Amino acid sequence: MSQFRIAPSLLSADFARLGEEVRDVIAAGADIIHFDVMDNHYVPNLTIGPLVCEAIRPHTTAPIDVHLMVTPVDALAASFAKAGADIITFHPEASHHIDRTLGLIKDAGCKAGLVLNPATSLSHLDHVMDKLDMILLMSVNPGFGGQKFIPQTLDKVRAVRQRIDEHTAKYGGEIWLEVDGGVKVDNIAEIAAAGADTFVAGSAIYGQPDYKVVIDAMRAELAK
Ligand code: DX5
Ligand code: ZN
Repeated sequence: MSQFRIAPSLLSADFARLGEEVRDVIAAGADIIHFDVMDNHYVPNLTIGPLVCEAIRPHTTAPIDVHLMVTPVDALAASFAKAGADIITFHPEASHHIDRTLGLIKDAGCKAGLVLNPATSLSHLDHVMDKLDMILLMSVNPGFGGQKFIPQTLDKVRAVRQRIDEHTAKYGGEIWLEVDGGVKVDNIAEIAAAGADTFVAGSAIYGQPDYKVVIDAMRAELAK
């Protein structure tokens, strides 16, 4: 497998100082900024939109990974592409036309991915593997930071790793496998061993005073 990527979730950052929070986690060694968009419709919580993405864009050259927990998806996906997103993922059950939404994101110049909730079937991947740059597996039910990792996710990670490896061996390309929810220093190695390469961590990183200490500890676990 290639490299491991650590993606702090801004959901647990100090929203009054977002630009600084973005710069600080990247300076502390993070690779990607995970940007959680909630609409109080698809999930029972409300967060940030394209204007905030545009506002943080000048604060980093690191990829901004926009996780859309919204329905409908298409218009917002297009707005986030304009606002400087690099990766845009959405939940398949939130779009009437998954293939069309993936195409729209890619046509706008972004990487595209699907997000599967803990109880969402892997069958959503069946006819779109060639259009995916990322598969995001939720290891909590979406809507809130600070929840406990659902251990059954590990079997799903193993199954998706196998699908990705089979697909890329046959057709080439690269598909990242990201895990989101309850990722901590003490479980990151196990999640990596199951096959994930990209790790979202909100409360584990932003909940500690020194981001570098946590990110270094995660990297040390990943190197074991
Ligand atoms: C949950 C979000 C996550 C969340 C993760 O719906 O998608 O990205 O911020 O937070 P932690 O790492 O605290 O579980
Ligand atoms: Zn997320």
